[in-house]
Amino acid sequence: MSSRSIVIISCLILFSGVVNAQTKLPYLDRNLPDETRVTDLIKRMTLEEKIAQMCQYVGIEHIKKTEKKYRDKNQLKNNDTYGVYPKLGIAGVEKMVETGLIGSFLHVVTATEANYLQSLAQKSRLKIPLIIGIDAIHGNGLVEGSTIYPSPIGLSSTWDTLLVKKTARYTAIEMRETGSQWAFSPNLDVARDARWGRIGETFGEDPFLVSMMGVSMIKGLQGENGLMRNGVLACAKHLVGGSQPVNGLNKAPTDISERTLQEIHLPPFKAAVNQGVYTIMPAHNEINGIPCHANQYLMEELLRKKWNFEGFYISDFMDIERLVEIHGTAADQKQAVALTVKAGMDMHMHGPNFLEPLLELVKSGEISEERIDASVKRILMAKFKLGLFENPFVPEKSAALFNQTHQQAALEAAHKSIVLLKNDGILPLNALKGKKILVTGPNANNQSVLGDWSLKQPDDKVLTVYQGIAKEAELRGAATTYFDAGQSILEMQPDLIKQAGEKAKEADIIVVVVGDNSLRFEAKRTAGENVDRDNIGLPGLQQQLVEELHKSGKQVVVVLVNGRPLSIPWIDENVSAIVEAWEPGSFGGKAIADVVFGNVNPSGKLTVTFPQNAGQIASYYNHKPSQYINKYIDSKTGFLYSFGYGLSYTNYSYSDIKLSKTQVKDGESFEASIEVTNNGKLAGEEVVQLYINGSTSEVSKPVKELKGFYRVKLSPGEKKTVKFKVSPEMLYNYDKNMNYGLEPGDFKIMIGSSSRESDLKVQTLKVNK
Ligand code: BGC
Repeated sequence: MSSRSIVIISCLILFSGVVNAQTKLPYLDRNLPDETRVTDLIKRMTLEEKIAQMCQYVGIEHIKKTEKKYRDKNQLKNNDTYGVYPKLGIAGVEKMVETGLIGSFLHVVTATEANYLQSLAQKSRLKIPLIIGIDAIHGNGLVEGSTIYPSPIGLSSTWDTLLVKKTARYTAIEMRETGSQWAFSPNLDVARDARWGRIGETFGEDPFLVSMMGVSMIKGLQGENGLMRNGVLACAKHLVGGSQPVNGLNKAPTDISERTLQEIHLPPFKAAVNQGVYTIMPAHNEINGIPCHANQYLMEELLRKKWNFEGFYISDFMDIERLVEIHGTAADQKQAVALTVKAGMDMHMHGPNFLEPLLELVKSGEISEERIDASVKRILMAKFKLGLFENPFVPEKSAALFNQTHQQAALEAAHKSIVLLKNDGILPLNALKGKKILVTGPNANNQSVLGDWSLKQPDDKVLTVYQGIAKEAELRGAATTYFDAGQSILEMQPDLIKQAGEKAKEADIIVVVVGDNSLRFEAKRTAGENVDRDNIGLPGLQQQLVEELHKSGKQVVVVLVNGRPLSIPWIDENVSAIVEAWEPGSFGGKAIADVVFGNVNPSGKLTVTFPQNAGQIASYYNHKPSQYINKYIDSKTGFLYSFGYGLSYTNYSYSDIKLSKTQVKDGESFEASIEVTNNGKLAGEEVVQLYINGSTSEVSKPVKELKGFYRVKLSPGEKKTVKFKVSPEMLYNYDKNMNYGLEPGDFKIMIGSSSRESDLKVQTLKVNK
């Protein structure tokens, strides 16, 4: 961009307010209600200008990057990360913005570019600002210099909804400062298959927890009660079922019963709609034969009409095109556009081949102009609510990015997200004076801690695990060495593994950091979007590395940096300690060291079940009673680590459960309480979990379902009573005719430290009609 255009932008920033104030056009009058402004503006728009508001394009820098990376455009056919428009070129895109033919962009990653695009939009006839979207999933990770929080699977492992809301609020602040006003987040997919590479992006396997986390994130992004002027649009995605693909592969078909859909996959979307989520993105996949992007039942009948969804739908990357190219449910693009718009779609992600066919469809009368007006109204309303008509520009330099407050929140979230899976007593490491610590493993000294949807960030903004450990070890008089056993997981070499084994012999303690690498632009990723596996053990030669280190006879601490459940039964049986760090973000290295050395008592709990192996998929805690009646003949049946599980350096005991009533009628609430005691010598935080198992009825019920949780702080010796208010609806289920309501009978109320039977206290509650 030239210095001339920057001067123009600055002038526009200064004068845009003045121009707006002087003009008499009602839609530019900030004193009028948004509703009046939208109506006025729509009246002034041509049909083409209206449809243009429904069109999104990737940003200019994104196009340049794609052009450099993919000289052969055919390689881009099924690509979900890169976009390019060969017929238009960058000049063509710029021209379209100037003529008001583009309403939105995605993946604009600098304030300079955002301002430039907005300045082009200001040249258009009606000066409608652009709305810019980005995948800010756990921090605004695609923008250089942003604060990166733990990926959603880590965030959910904190079981701390207020903290999740806080990280989302700070993400929104960093986004607005760099020119984006729309986060394609939260991901509300309920994780059901450990092979699927996107589990790290989810809040785990439980619909209630996913709903709570999703709502918290929406509140943080948009505002507590609807969209704030300085908030960003949230986007609930992906509607629906993509996390349960038939073969574990992203985009593969899903075949899900109405019951599983209603009980498991849809509740988080219902919660999001109730919270006023502004946008929703359908999923790549087909569901029971109908692609989600053309699913009128889901988009229009259920969410729009029955649940009252008032915001707008955005298609996922190229998924309207895929109705033709993959699903074969439309003969050509025009038919695909007709199907999706009739099903409820409001905006196309991304590029050409939407405006023209839709224009033709309206001109031929197949789609009415009122239908277009409805979409455009929703989109423009967002632009008004966000104040973009008053000022679409942002300062070139942001003071908010990676500020102290955001850094602290990232560290707090990382601390609380870490789950201690095993400890034979070696942790926290102590009596270290004069000791030698060896740190090794592919994830020990790189930015894999950032997870998917983050680019590599400047080195001074990320603390690796090795750096974190070395710093803490030094304070305790221990020496740390790092051995690089190969950082590209899929290219590990046996000779380096041997050498690591030799180094281990010289050390007293070994910390080996293994797992997955889902960093967005990494060449050889092992997890993340479109990186699925049919084996959920450690990829590459990581298992061999751990075994080689273990052979040294020294104590081995395994730190996992990953975003999905891993099947590691050998490691569980053989090493001294296992720390599940997930993808802990900018301060991951420090947070891990704080846990390993005992500055922080671990308190995270799993939000996804770890199966013994891939053959035991699907594995989730809220299964039906008959699921494990038979046993596998070739390996142990049951979970390696259960939902809700996580160790601490102290230990807690639970009293029996007290119910405020032993019998209730439909419509009555009651209270279930329990006393939790910290019996150890260290202060800690415990996540107390409430599960319910429904009554006997003609429909089998899950063995237990999460209905509540609290994170409580307890000093050594301290006791606290935790009270759960159980509302009538927490006892409801879908009966055999799929009616939602109460089926009276005996309910089991369970409270404890995890979903494992052995960790739960139980009481029976009688429920009458
Ligand atoms: C993903 C979405 C994402 C979009 C834009 C798609 O491939 O499925 O989750 O928001 O790309 O980056």
